[in-house]
Amino acid sequence: MLHCLGIESSCDDTSCAVVREDGEVLSNIVSSQNALHAEYGGVVPEIASRAHAERIVPVLEQALSEAGVGLGDIGLIAATQGPGLIGSLLVGLETAKGLAYATNTPLAPVNHLVGHLHSVFIGDADKRVGPEFFPYLGLIVSGGHSSLVRCDAPGRYRQVGQTLDDAAGEVYDKVAQMLDLGHPGGPILDKLAANGDPEANAFPRPLLNRDNCDFSFSGLKTAVRVWLDREGREAIAADKARLADLAASFQAAVVDALIEKSKRALAQESLERLAIVGGVACNRGLRAAAAERLAGVDVRIPAPLICTDNAAMIAAVGIALRDNAPESAMTINATASMPLSVA
Ligand code: KG4
Ligand code: ZN
Repeated sequence: MLHCLGIESSCDDTSCAVVREDGEVLSNIVSSQNALHAEYGGVVPEIASRAHAERIVPVLEQALSEAGVGLGDIGLIAATQGPGLIGSLLVGLETAKGLAYATNTPLAPVNHLVGHLHSVFIGDADKRVGPEFFPYLGLIVSGGHSSLVRCDAPGRYRQVGQTLDDAAGEVYDKVAQMLDLGHPGGPILDKLAANGDPEANAFPRPLLNRDNCDFSFSGLKTAVRVWLDREGREAIAADKARLADLAASFQAAVVDALIEKSKRALAQESLERLAIVGGVACNRGLRAAAAERLAGVDVRIPAPLICTDNAAMIAAVGIALRDNAPESAMTINATASMPLSVA
């Protein structure tokens, strides 16, 4: 069976994975740079690309050894071409080109967002789906993106909604930053929200009543900032119960928008299957709401390690589109922005 080596370095995670043709993940090594960027409250591109350059070879070696394979067993290489930070993308893509050239292996360039969309096709045999899952709606919620995408077949995607301003993960990170809680803020606020009252503060749900599938989160971010300025940031950060209430109320507003707009898009596109993907798909409030509020919809949310940036999802796209691999890997270039229709 074909073994695909995936390589991902579009932002601040250096990752290599070996995935088998049937979707079984043999290894998926992710070297996170969170600690390097924490003091800046966000990703610093120059630091990210240097760290990728230092880590890519050890991460590759670990991915091969954990999967119990050598380069000779790899029938296909898949690497992220874009979108992302150009200096970061170059490290993974040029490594992939070098490997493809040296071992005479085909190289598939992959759109990072399509990687997220295909993350439901890999993982544990009882949870992953097969190609019969098409057509489906993908809700991509990450630090850089919030969009709803109609997925008709491998290589055929159409965006039906997107955020008009901030991404969902970005607002999580910014709200956590306002309270000096650490970076990335999503998992921290998610944990705090578990002990809070989601109805404690009535934060706005922008665009919820509009007849479209778009999101807007910057109004929510401003509402939290204004509320914090009024109540006193330090007072809230020091009061466990009120902090939990704030986190739960903020999370409820984000989750409402994501669930209601997904419902609208499913109806508009006459789709019955939904994949929730990207880092914010780890969110426990979102997972619970998807299970409770989307009756009749086949909802798939990958395991947390497959939701956040990882190379196994990149390999998944390589496998699905293996017949499209270009003749020569040497002409592939990294690109900071990339249309969704290009897989
Ligand atoms: O997909 P990802 O790893 O990277 C991008 O492509 O952006 O997503 C990272 C984002 C961060 O904003 C992080 O705060 C958010 O996902 N995130 C979460 C949770 N875990 C990660 N947001 C809410 N709840 C979580 N449990
Ligand atoms: Zn991502």
